[in-house]
Amino acid sequence: MNKPLRPVLLAAAVAMATPAFAQFAKPEDAVKYRQAAFALMGNHMGRINGQLKSGSPNMQVIQSSAALVETLSKLPFEAFTPGSDMVANTKAKPEIWTDMAKVKDLAEKMPGEVAKLAAATKTGDVKAIQAQFGAVGQACKACHDDYRAK
Ligand code: HEC
Repeated sequence: MNKPLRPVLLAAAVAMATPAFAQFAKPEDAVKYRQAAFALMGNHMGRINGQLKSGSPNMQVIQSSAALVETLSKLPFEAFTPGSDMVANTKAKPEIWTDMAKVKDLAEKMPGEVAKLAAATKTGDVKAIQAQFGAVGQACKACHDDYRAK
């Protein structure tokens, strides 16, 4: 009589035991994910910088890169999963996992500054974009200084 119920109970038990970080099957996957997001952010910050340094910045390039960075900026934090500090090729310092509240704060401030940059790019005001680009750079650096290995 019990038999037909079993798979249902098993499924429920599995669902309850599923950890919060189920989106990454292995710690290596979490490392790949956050490195990929950061690498793309770095690339598009570089493109914006290149335009700002050129004599005649291309606003379309600046706007599309800023929009991409805005989306990407929301991705890396969830990938600092437990155990992903032990992956060989990570540059994430182990202090991230002991200072998680501080890191979360830094990880939330950065997208806030990036959103302001994306908004500034829509005005076309190069001076304002430059100033906010600097503020984003500071938000990146604030975390890298303490939590990214050289
Ligand atoms: C909350 C902390 C934090 C913030 C904020 C942050 N980073 Fe990072 N970043 C890291 C850590 C930690 C790593 C190393 C990740 C790893 O290797 O697992 C990293 C790695 C990188 C890398 C190297 C990626 C690779 O190829 O492996 C780049 C590029 C980068 N960050 C760019 C940025 C930019 C640009 C910003 C701001 C727009 C930024 N980061 C904001 C913590 C942060």
